[in-house]
Amino acid sequence: VEVPVLAPVILAASRSDKMRRFVSAAPGTKQVVDRFIAGETVDQVIPIVQDASAKGLEVTLDVVGEDITTVEQSYAARDAYLELIDRLKALGLGTKAEMSVKLSMFGQALEGGHELALANVRPVVEAAAAIGTTVTLDAEDHTTLDSMFAIHEELRKDFPQTGCVIQAYLFRTEDDARRLAAAGSRVRIVKGAYKEPASVAYLDKAEIDKAFVRIVKILMQGEGYPMIGSHDPRLIAISQELARQAGRKLDEYEFQMLYGIRSDEHVRLAAEGHRMRVYTAYGTDWYGYFMRRLAEKPANLLFFARSILTT
Ligand code: FDA
Repeated sequence: VEVPVLAPVILAASRSDKMRRFVSAAPGTKQVVDRFIAGETVDQVIPIVQDASAKGLEVTLDVVGEDITTVEQSYAARDAYLELIDRLKALGLGTKAEMSVKLSMFGQALEGGHELALANVRPVVEAAAAIGTTVTLDAEDHTTLDSMFAIHEELRKDFPQTGCVIQAYLFRTEDDARRLAAAGSRVRIVKGAYKEPASVAYLDKAEIDKAFVRIVKILMQGEGYPMIGSHDPRLIAISQELARQAGRKLDEYEFQMLYGIRSDEHVRLAAEGHRMRVYTAYGTDWYGYFMRRLAEKPANLLFFARSILTT
């Protein structure tokens, strides 16, 4: 079964409450979820940060959650990150871990959500800066991005190291990359994980890969700090070559991969002298994140289906 056939179905299910209840309750789900989610609590994720650090890896920590529906939930999201940062500070792990946040979890889609998300994320960015680290704003579906980029620009006035994510599958992204490839900026380029219409995004895998390469080239030739978020061996090799052509040293860009995916490669690239950061998601609201990981690879879905049927 090909990804293009299944992915839109799974991505549609990732936003269905009915499917959320079904998947969450299914026996066997936890076993598969555990591959991608590093734990449910701060206590569970801290040893993973320490272990990564011992292997020469850095992390970006994501408290899972998105598409919240109440203002109280948006405060809870903010507080979960503040608790995490407190713990990193107490353990002296501030410089080993940065944070990734989804603005929809900070209230972006609620009424007055743009201001609410900004007000919630600002103290997190401040607290991160105080322990010597930073925050990257994840990219969600295309309808949220103007607000995300505006919040990013606002935060950068006081915290220029605040990063953001751009998605190669969107037609708009080459322009965004040119705007963002300026001195001091930190930009993560990824293929893109949401269900998008053909009016705004490439749907063909080869087209997305070509756009990814064009954008990496813009970032490498620019003056910012490129973060290459991909597990694709071909795109990683091309990015290394584009970095070399742009005259970048190994510490002038980094690779990023997701916890649980191609873990050997994390260590191999780090051993070659590359900066490698593992996007490490934890928490209880894992449904949306988990479903996007299933949509990326049909084999995951088959494995998941089998584990549900056999437990
Ligand atoms: P591709 O999907 O072609 O995968 C290449 C190879 O990697 C596969 O052949 C397989 O071996 C392995 N692989 C990839 N995904 C796998 C999976 N789920 N399970 C098992 N193996 C898998 N997206 C977004 O829209 N907004 C965001 O903010 C982010 N943030 C982000 C951070 C980081 C650090 C990464 C690595 C990715 C994201 N993404 C994201 C997700 C991204 O858009 C994309 O969906 C995935 O990275 C998969 O694309 P690849 O580039 O890995 O290539």
